Amino acid sequence: MERFKDKVVFLTGAATGIGEATAKRMAAEGASLYIVDVAQTELESTAQACRKLGADVASQTCDVSNETEVARSVEEMLDRFGKVNVVGNVAGIQLWHHTCDHPTSDFERTLAVNLTGTFLVCRELIPHLLQTGGSIVNVSSTTALAGIPYSVAYAASKAGVLALTKSLAVEYAKQGLQVNCVNPGGIKTAMTKMPPVDDIDMDLLLRQNPLTPFVEPESVASLIAFLASDEGRHINGEHVRIDGAALA
Ligand SMILES: NC(=O)c1ccc[n+]([C@@H]2O[C@H](COP(=O)([O-])OP(=O)(O)OC[C@H]3O[C@@H](n4cnc5c(N)ncnc54)[C@H](O)[C@@H]3O)[C@@H](O)[C@H]2O)c1
Repeated sequence: MERFKDKVVFLTGAATGIGEATAKRMAAEGASLYIVDVAQTELESTAQACRKLGADVASQTCDVSNETEVARSVEEMLDRFGKVNVVGNVAGIQLWHHTCDHPTSDFERTLAVNLTGTFLVCRELIPHLLQTGGSIVNVSSTTALAGIPYSVAYAASKAGVLALTKSLAVEYAKQGLQVNCVNPGGIKTAMTKMPPVDDIDMDLLLRQNPLTPFVEPESVASLIAFLASDEGRHINGEHVRIDGAALA
């Protein structure tokens, strides 16, 4: 399949996990890629892997919560590729605390990366996506749809991503923009290691676990690619759970 032939993809969080898998998936399907992340070494590994798959790739260290860095990356991407067809907002962090001990700084940092970062990337790129009739896929979470303990900032940020997704879809659908999000749960990445919190109630923590074993990040990459491709074109303003029936 060459669903991304002649398409330019701007992808955040591409160093590891779901973002890395998404970059490789789109590279294998003909995309040119501009990938960003804060983890420089791993980001370069992803870029090299994508080049081996035949893709034209540029990578840039960028903290998505930093307005200036996002604007600089967008400008650099446009200088290099001249257009953008697909945006994938995958970058994210999850910090664990019992809520009564939750530092305000960690709450704000989580919102800054997961929600403000998604907003900033969308805001900077939408004018250019409107020129190509492009597509945005944001990464939300099952935690946007059902409660999770010890991670209120993360859950709130991901619910924000879901609401932002639907609002953007409504605001820009008539102008040809497509905006969806995916709601993963139980994906084998660095993020799904055991939380570093004392006195964990495992019953509460496991409420959102899939009914089937955890799966590799490629499964989410495949869903993101489908939504961003012409095959998924009429799906707009949707959120799609990919969680092994955890919330079914
Ligand atoms: N793994 C799961 O089960 C799961 C479930 C629901 C949602 N998600 C979401 O999927 C996305 C990818 O997570 P993952 O599971 O692949 O974990 P991951 O930790 O491997 O990937 C997150 C990536 O985001 C990058 N990142 C962190 N802060 C950043 C910043 N300020 N600017 C730019 N990049 C930054 C990290 O360096 C990393 O490469 C995240 O948004 C996460 O919330 C994952």
